[in-house]
Amino acid sequence: MRVLVTAGPTRERIDTVRYISNRSSGRMGYALASVAAGWGHDVTLISGSVSLEAVPGTRMIYVETAAEMLGEVLGAVTDADVVVMCAAVSDYRPVTEFPGKLKKTDRRLILELERTEDILGRLGRHERRYSLVGFAAETENVLDNARAKLKSKNLDWIVANNVGIPGRGFDSEENAVTMISRKGEMHEFGLQSKSSLAVKILSTVFAGLGDGDR
Ligand code: CTP
Repeated sequence: MRVLVTAGPTRERIDTVRYISNRSSGRMGYALASVAAGWGHDVTLISGSVSLEAVPGTRMIYVETAAEMLGEVLGAVTDADVVVMCAAVSDYRPVTEFPGKLKKTDRRLILELERTEDILGRLGRHERRYSLVGFAAETENVLDNARAKLKSKNLDWIVANNVGIPGRGFDSEENAVTMISRKGEMHEFGLQSKSSLAVKILSTVFAGLGDGDR
């Protein structure tokens, strides 16, 4: 199988030394790539800026911004069998990048932001032969919001996680998730290491490939 995984945060530049980003560590995506490669699959890992070692046995592509991630995903997706969009892509970027380092003044500074493209949403709108898996990072109404994303982005699976609880999810070693399929199947995986979750998430996705999930 050809598996494409995205991981980590994107960074959207404000000036030469500052950016907008989020707390994603990339661990979940790296764990997914590592498990898939360990099972002998052909894995491409598109990664935002993280402080993790490259995953052996995978094709690593590093990106900084949401726009760069979009470009690399579109390039790699054509021959994929499974796409897992685990990256925490910034929804907004500054309209302009200030040249050099922005100097402070005594006045307020207003940053104007514009939307980035929804990479997963774009993949979901395309005619495709691969299975498409998204993540939903939520702090409230976790399952309802995840189901809404599953539908609006036209996914095969969504992996819902509550990122509002300290010690799990963003920037943690562990997480607990609920997977929901387009057919309404639901699997709950309680608090455990991200490597262990990666095995369960990928097993569930691969098990669905055979039974006409798409
Ligand atoms: N995603 C994406 N491109 C974006 C934003 C998100 O591909 N510009 C993907 C993420 O990788 C994830 C899924 O969409 O797989 C859901 O991301 P999430 O941050 O939970 O939700 P959003 O779609 O950004 O919606 P909201 O911020 O309103 O919750």
